[in-house]
Amino acid sequence: MRAYDIILKKREGNELSKEEIEYLIEAYTAGELPDYQLSAWAMAVFFKGMNERETADLTMTMANSGDTIDLSPIQGVKVDKHSTGGVGDTTTLVLAPLVAAAGAPVAKMSGRGLGHTGGTIDKLESIPDFNTSLSREQFINNVNDIKVAVAGQTGNLAPADKKLYALRDVTATVDSIPLIASSIMSKKIAAGADGIVLDVKVGDGAFMKDYEEAKRLAKTMVDIGKNVQRETIAVISDMNQPLGLAVGNALEVKEAIETLRGEGPVDLTALCLTLGSQMLRLSGVVKSVEAGREELEKVLTSGAGLKKLKEMITAQGGNPEVVDNYNLLPTAKQKIELKAEADGYIEEIAAEDVGIAAMLLGAGRKSKEDNIDMAVGVELAVKVGEEVSKGDKLALLHVNEQSDLTAAREKLQKAYTITTEPVEEKALIYEIVK
Ligand code: URA
Ligand code: CA
Repeated sequence: MRAYDIILKKREGNELSKEEIEYLIEAYTAGELPDYQLSAWAMAVFFKGMNERETADLTMTMANSGDTIDLSPIQGVKVDKHSTGGVGDTTTLVLAPLVAAAGAPVAKMSGRGLGHTGGTIDKLESIPDFNTSLSREQFINNVNDIKVAVAGQTGNLAPADKKLYALRDVTATVDSIPLIASSIMSKKIAAGADGIVLDVKVGDGAFMKDYEEAKRLAKTMVDIGKNVQRETIAVISDMNQPLGLAVGNALEVKEAIETLRGEGPVDLTALCLTLGSQMLRLSGVVKSVEAGREELEKVLTSGAGLKKLKEMITAQGGNPEVVDNYNLLPTAKQKIELKAEADGYIEEIAAEDVGIAAMLLGAGRKSKEDNIDMAVGVELAVKVGEEVSKGDKLALLHVNEQSDLTAAREKLQKAYTITTEPVEEKALIYEIVK
């Protein structure tokens, strides 16, 4: 087989065989094909697309390109959740204990944040002594013992995707639906998921700014799931403002605890119930999504979800007392108010700008090597649709010495759009694709 012929075949809009896709990806991962050939191929895919079969074959080739996590020692159906990335997306911190308390095993591998989006692993590390680097055995034992573990990625998962994604990033071929879909799904499959619940974000702060694109991405990933025997459902949710009120590591841990107490922000709670009930249904713990939601509501009301979080913190070496005493979490030295510059209604809170403001305060990394400050971030005081008067508090900035307060404040002020006309409430959950 020759890479040239495969590139030409795709350039002409023809379907590639499984063998051709495997050859191209495997040889590239092994360093036997040059970047320029894979770049040309990615560009051909960008323009000509791939059908359902090709996309599934590409997914499995990338999933099998490195280590794969064998979760079979864990009893039950392992359902993973993936978000395409948002700002202040505190869902995993809430969902992992919540779903586990309702009886489904949660073996979750998460990542660190980069740029304007945060990562679950960073957030968890704001809990004193919490250990996110579990060995394979510990990870599996914890899930078998208490139904939940959240740890950083171990092993060399989907190296083909890593290499291809880096190449796409510099060749203007990231935003191809089949390439994005196969990239995301390959990593979930390599991490051992039997079933997958996807939270596809759409809006200003999201990867997908356009609704039809988001829907196509959702549908493509659900179809991949069907073709590779991992039942997958996708929830399309709004990212035209940050989720919940807190954006920042320790701030989001606190927000997750409040949510598990049943006292969290309405939008974060609603999204967690929607995603969680889908997870419970896929895991087979309940027969229907409706039954799943009932279970989760019970777990919220009884405090079993909060208790599960404490168990998880203890099992991973952290101090579970943070749940009852927020003073044990890192706290910023200063809290500075951001005020409304006009009377009116909040029309938009540009999520990406809020994420960048939090990063400028030190909550996120500009580059992979940066250190982050667990204590700092942004706490929104109002959300889209609310009425404000000039001088009202819009948000609270949690600030330390290293924070670039001037730039952060400017970004955050710019994130808010205030209009004189009342604003219609936007939907949070648009559609479920299955
Ligand atoms: N996220 C991924 O993991 N892969 C892509 O290709 C795009 C976004
Ligand atoms: Ca949040």
